[in-house]
Parts: sequence; C-alpha cells; structure tokens
Amino acid sequence: MSEYRRVKGTRDLLPPETAVWAAVEATARRVFALYGYGEVRTPVLEHTELFVRSVGESSDIVGKEMYTFDDRKGRSVTLRPENTASVARAFLEAGMQAGPLPAKLFYIGPQFRYERPQKGRYRQFHQIGAELLGDASPQADAELLLMLDRFLRELGFRELEVLLNTVGDAESRRAYGEALRTFLAPHREQLGPDSQRRLETNPLRILDTKDPAERELLAGAPALADHLTDAARAHFATVRALLDRFGVKYRVSERLVRGLDYYTDTVFEIVSKDLGAQDAVCGGGRYDELVADLGGPRIPGIGFAIGEDRLIDVLPASFRAHATARPPVLVVPVGGLAVDEAVALGEELRTAGVPSEVETAGRALRKALERASKLGVRWAALVGQSELERAVVQLKDLAKGEQHEVPRAALPMYLESRVEAEAAEKE
Ligand code: HAM
Repeated sequence: MSEYRRVKGTRDLLPPETAVWAAVEATARRVFALYGYGEVRTPVLEHTELFVRSVGESSDIVGKEMYTFDDRKGRSVTLRPENTASVARAFLEAGMQAGPLPAKLFYIGPQFRYERPQKGRYRQFHQIGAELLGDASPQADAELLLMLDRFLRELGFRELEVLLNTVGDAESRRAYGEALRTFLAPHREQLGPDSQRRLETNPLRILDTKDPAERELLAGAPALADHLTDAARAHFATVRALLDRFGVKYRVSERLVRGLDYYTDTVFEIVSKDLGAQDAVCGGGRYDELVADLGGPRIPGIGFAIGEDRLIDVLPASFRAHATARPPVLVVPVGGLAVDEAVALGEELRTAGVPSEVETAGRALRKALERASKLGVRWAALVGQSELERAVVQLKDLAKGEQHEVPRAALPMYLESRVEAEAAEKE
C-alpha cells in the first residue's frame, strides 16, 4: 500500500457510489428547475471576514471549525464552511439586488469544517442547497419547503421528519433574549464557557446546548413562543397553514434554534431515524438581516442546505439500485471469433441506444460469464463464427439461465420489449 493517505475526515468517492451521487444531483437539478431556480457556483475560498460577519462569532463554526489560513500576502482566507454567506456575497457583488427579485439560486458542492470526524460527519462534506433572496412572504417559506419535500419524495423518501420553529423577527428576539438573560443570570456559574459567552453575544443559541445539566436548567426557562410579536406569530401561522394544506408533514420543535447566527423567523431541520448521532440531513431558515449585515440593502432571504453525504447514507434502496444499474448487455466472442467482431456488435448496440460492454480481455466463456454475473449484467450476447455469418446472436439471460437465438438487427428491439414486459410484471 502507498504511504500516501487521504486527509483525515475526507473521502474518495468511487463507482458505483459516484453514480448514486450523480443521480441525486440530477434529481435536484430537475426539481429545482421546476421552481425556477438557477445554479450558482461560488469559490471554495473566501475572505475569512465574510463568515465571521454572517455565520457569526457565537457559532461553533466560526469559533472553532473553520479551515482558516493566511495566503502568501498575509490575507486571512477560509475554505467555505457553508454556502449561504457566499451566495449573499455573490448576489451583492453581481448587483442582483437591482432585480428582478426574488433571485432563486441553488448550489451543489463541497464545504469544509474542522470537526471531529465520525459516522456522518466529515471535514470535507457536500451540500445541496437553495437560497431565495428578495421575498419576505410566508408563502415564499412554504414554497421553498414544498420544493424540498418534492425533491426528497422523488428520491423515494417517505419517513423523514421536518422539525419546524420560528426564532421570531428582530424585535421578538430582542425581547426573548432579555427574558432569557434575566432568567439565566442567577445561574451563570452553572453554565459552561460556551453558554456563558453566548449569554452576552446571542442568548438564543444557548437553547441549542447538548449539555444535560444546562438542558435541565433550561426546562424552566421562559419560552420563545411567548415573546413573539404579532407579525412573527402571524408569519409562522401562515407557513404552517400552507404546509398543512399541501400535506407536508412537520413537527413544531420549540427548542430548534439552529447553530448559525443569521436566522430570523422560520427555521427548520430534517432528521432521519436511520442516522446515528449526526441525524440532521438538512437545515435551513429565513435570514432577513444577512444581506444588510454584509453591507447591502435590507433584502430578506430564506434557504436550506442538505448534507449530501448523510442524505446518500440513508437513501432508499430503490433509488440506489436504479442509479447503479450496469449496462445490461455483455458481448462475448466465442469459439475463437475475432474480438474485433464483438467490438463491432457492441458499437452497433450502443448506436441503437443499448448500453453494453464487450469482453475484450479474451477470457474463456465460463470465466466471462462468471464475471458478468458478479457485475450484475443481465444478458450475455454470444457471437461465434456461425452467428456472425447468419447475422444472429445467442442471447443468454443470466438471471433466468435461458438462451435464445435472436436476429442481430432485432436485438435492440427484443431487449427493449423484455425490459418493458418485466417492468409491467413487477407492477
Ligand atoms: P447547517 O445546519 O450548518 O446549515 O448544515 C446543513 C447540513 O449540512 C446539515 O444538516 C448536515 O446534513 C450537513 N453537514 C453539516 N456539517 C457536516 C459535516 N461536518 N459532515 C457532514 N455533513 C454535514 C447550513 O450550512 C446553512 N447554510 C443552511 C442554510 C441555507 N440556511 C439558510 N440557507
């Protein structure tokens, strides 16, 4: 084995796994296009300040997880830990605030966080995300969630749970932050260093704690829901009513506050029972102050990011099987027939739209068929001198063990009709 190993927390993706990734991404592209989203590709590298300003100093991401280093001129740059800040920056930099609004953008790509690697948690991971900029309406929230729901259903998911909450508008959060500070002040010493720091910077984030003692303390804390302004309450009610109307299943989770600082109003996460401790497949929410925080006009936004690595970990088997299907046909020259003739038949089949492979390595028939079975190839098309002269092939069905002689010219149509007949049988 070579002495070179991949960097801890990173992965190599190889066939057939990459076929699953490509199929998931193709589905995302198709579904997002149905809603009018266009792709954005931002650099992996950004000025560090962008994330400090947006994701926020009270977040774990900025506090301890960023891949930050000085470039050769001594400017601090960071490998993006998430994509929302970059999208907002790109939006402003391209002058998209001039319209037409809303801007609907999606992205697919790697993100980097220096976390302790474990199942479902990587240092380079991948997100499929979407951002809608320039529409503050609750209907925009609902439509984004409908798009997300449609995407997940197209992948075959039925069991994922959407956790939904509101963190309120700026005024609600100010009022709640005060109430929480007042409640926690006498218990300051019982809080860990992170929460003590958050008491000053962003008390809401304390609700996100995993510490059992802090959780117990918080059980008696004032509820965010009791500090919402009428506007924030109405916004959230409309979002829920629309989700009900369109049958999107969700559960309101008052503890859900998300780990990034830019959120306002609607927030959500999607979790899977099939994942371990890292059970969030998707996170998102509204961020009506982010663009202004980055120096732009006050343009509202909402978006989500799916962790593609985790999504694929729990992908329904049916989608996976479809995505990784091998070409159904292996052409095998028999009885000493020139391999060139097998290559010619392979080309003929591909031209007719039948994915096929050719046994070019000169294996004996038995070995070739063993290999074909291992690969999951469905049919072996055997051609010898006699088949060549009569323009036929011996078509061996490796699943059923049957063999038929089929005219060469009719082969693509014959295969197609067999595939259709079997699909009909299954239904
Ligand atoms: P986030 O919750 O930090 O939100 O990440 C979104 C998803 O990325 C998570 O639910 C998880 O599936 C995946 N993820 C995060 N960290 C890792 C990791 N170390 N390894 C594997 N997967 C991971 C955001 O990033 C926001 N930008 C989402 C958003 C978009 N909000 C508004 N617009």
